[in-house]
Amino acid sequence: MQSEIAQYYQRGGEATRLDAGHGRWEFLRTWDLLGRILPAGPLSILDVGGATGVYAGPLAAAGHEVHVVDPMPEHVAASAALPGVTAAAGDARALAEPDASRDVVLLFGPLYHLVDRADRVTAWREAARVVRPGGLVLAATINRYTSLLDGYAKGFVRDPGFAAILTTTLATGVHRNLSGDGRWFTTAYFHRPDELPGEVEEAGLTLERRAAIEGPLWMMPDLAQILADGERTAQAMALLRAVEGEPHLWGASSHLLTVASRPA
Ligand SMILES: C[S@@+](CC[C@H](N)C(=O)[O-])C[C@H]1O[C@@H](n2cnc3c(N)ncnc32)[C@H](O)[C@@H]1O
Repeated sequence: MQSEIAQYYQRGGEATRLDAGHGRWEFLRTWDLLGRILPAGPLSILDVGGATGVYAGPLAAAGHEVHVVDPMPEHVAASAALPGVTAAAGDARALAEPDASRDVVLLFGPLYHLVDRADRVTAWREAARVVRPGGLVLAATINRYTSLLDGYAKGFVRDPGFAAILTTTLATGVHRNLSGDGRWFTTAYFHRPDELPGEVEEAGLTLERRAAIEGPLWMMPDLAQILADGERTAQAMALLRAVEGEPHLWGASSHLLTVASRPA
């Protein structure tokens, strides 16, 4: 892992990132998608890049067997402390897991921290090796235009440092932030949604579907008020379910979920 990425995560933000605002909406939408996509359990799930166990904890509480792999020792320790969750240090490109040993592999993080395509395909291939025939690999990626939208929503574009990073990101997908200081997201790769089918295919997996995670609603100035109101949250959730598979809206979502299966 590059040093600025490790420095960024050493700040400890992952423990609370999904508790409020955009992060909360990301969690609620991801959890809603998981509930509709995962087959009936209990399942054996490998959560690669699982950080502090934000999904591993609730998945274990729902009765699944969950093992987290993450390069950050702090994340491994936090995950391993959760009831029903085991965790170990590791890298998505070289998993210490037997072939065909899991029903589901989650890649919610590694693909956007691997800036070289060959590394991303290696991570997909490792997931394909570890999942059983007929099992699922679910991957979260950040969309190419997220920092353009975030830059305007939060006013970052007025900072020349951010604007320089953004110009390169829009042209190449590489968001290279060497500072590690936590002002903006650390070094990452921001996918165009149309890049995912090729990565999936090169790993020998079958593309099942893609879905917007947050959709365009993550940029709404009154998101906190919506999430504080159960009725408004339920309405937003129903509307997002209706458009999550609409390719014309994918680029406006902060994250995209790709679902792939290993041929039986
Ligand atoms: C933004 S966090 C996402 C955490 C959580 N899975 C979620 O969806 O909210 C990205 C995670 O990917 C991990 N990560 C980065 N590079 C990785 C790699 N090469 N292999 C496995 N995990 C990696 C980081 O340590 C971090 O925990």
